[in-house]
Amino acid sequence: MAPPNEIDTETPAVSVSELTFRYTNGAPPVLAIRSWEVGRRECVFLYGESGSGKSTLLNLIAGLQVPQSGSLGVLGTDLADLSVRQRDRFRAKHVGVVFQQFNLIPYLSVVDNVLLAAHFGGQQQSGRDRTNELLDAVNLPLQLGGRRADQLSIGQQQRVAIVRALVNAPELLLVDEPTSALDTVNRDAFLDLLFDVVEAQRSAMVFVSHDPTIAERFENKTAISDLHSTENN
Ligand SMILES: Nc1ncnc2c1ncn2[C@@H]1O[C@H](COP(=O)(O)OP(=O)(O)OP(=O)(O)O)[C@@H](O)[C@H]1O
Ligand SMILES: [Mg+2]
Repeated sequence: MAPPNEIDTETPAVSVSELTFRYTNGAPPVLAIRSWEVGRRECVFLYGESGSGKSTLLNLIAGLQVPQSGSLGVLGTDLADLSVRQRDRFRAKHVGVVFQQFNLIPYLSVVDNVLLAAHFGGQQQSGRDRTNELLDAVNLPLQLGGRRADQLSIGQQQRVAIVRALVNAPELLLVDEPTSALDTVNRDAFLDLLFDVVEAQRSAMVFVSHDPTIAERFENKTAISDLHSTENN
C-alpha cells in the first residue's frame, strides 16, 4: 500500500472494472458495472431510482463493503489489496463520506464528532481551527459546538456530517443525498461551500441526489442504470 501522503495523483479517483456486488448469495447482483471512471478533479452527479444501488456503490468506493468480483481502484489504490483495517485507515485519510443517515456518534458533541475524524485522519494538530472554520461556513453557530449530536435537528446533524467529511481535506468526497434535510438557504450555502472546497483542494466528488435543481450545478450527470452492464453491452 502506498504511504498516506504519497498517493499516485495520475490515476483516476475511482476506477471500476467488471464489478459485481450482491448482499445475498445466489440473488441477482445489486450492482454489475463493467467499466466506470471518475477523474481526479471530476465532480459527478449520480442519480437513479430508489433501490437502484447508489448508496451501495458509495459504500463500495468507501471500502465499507467489498465486491464479490471485479476490481475497484480508489485514488490509485486497489481496495482488494487492503485489509479491513487498512481500508479504514485509507478512508480516514483520503476519502470524505457524507452518509445518507449521517452516522454521527450520538453521545459525542458536535466538535468531538469532527475532531475524532481529524484524529483518525492524522490531522489532530490543525483539526480544531479547521473545525471551527467549517462549522462557521455551514452556518452552525459556535455555541452548538458542545452540544451532543443526538440533540440536534436533522438539518443540523447533516451539516455536522458535512463538516466531518471535509475536515481532513480528502482527495475524494462521497456525498449521499446531502440536501434533503436542508432548507433552501442552507442547501445553497452547503453547495457553495462544497464546490469551493472541491476547487481549493482539487478533489474529486461523487454526489448522489434526486434533486434536479442541484443536478444543474454539475457538468457530469450519470444515471446509475447506465453503469449497469447487461448481456447486450
Ligand atoms: N444491508 C443490506 N442488506 C440487504 N439488502 C440491502 C442492504 N442495503 C441495501 N439493500 C438492497 O440493495 C438495493 C440497493 O440499495 P441502495 O441502498 O444502494 O439503493 P439507493 O439507490 O441508495 O436507494 P435510495 O435512493 O432509496 O437511497 C435495494 O434493493 C436494497 O433493498
Ligand atoms: Mg441511498
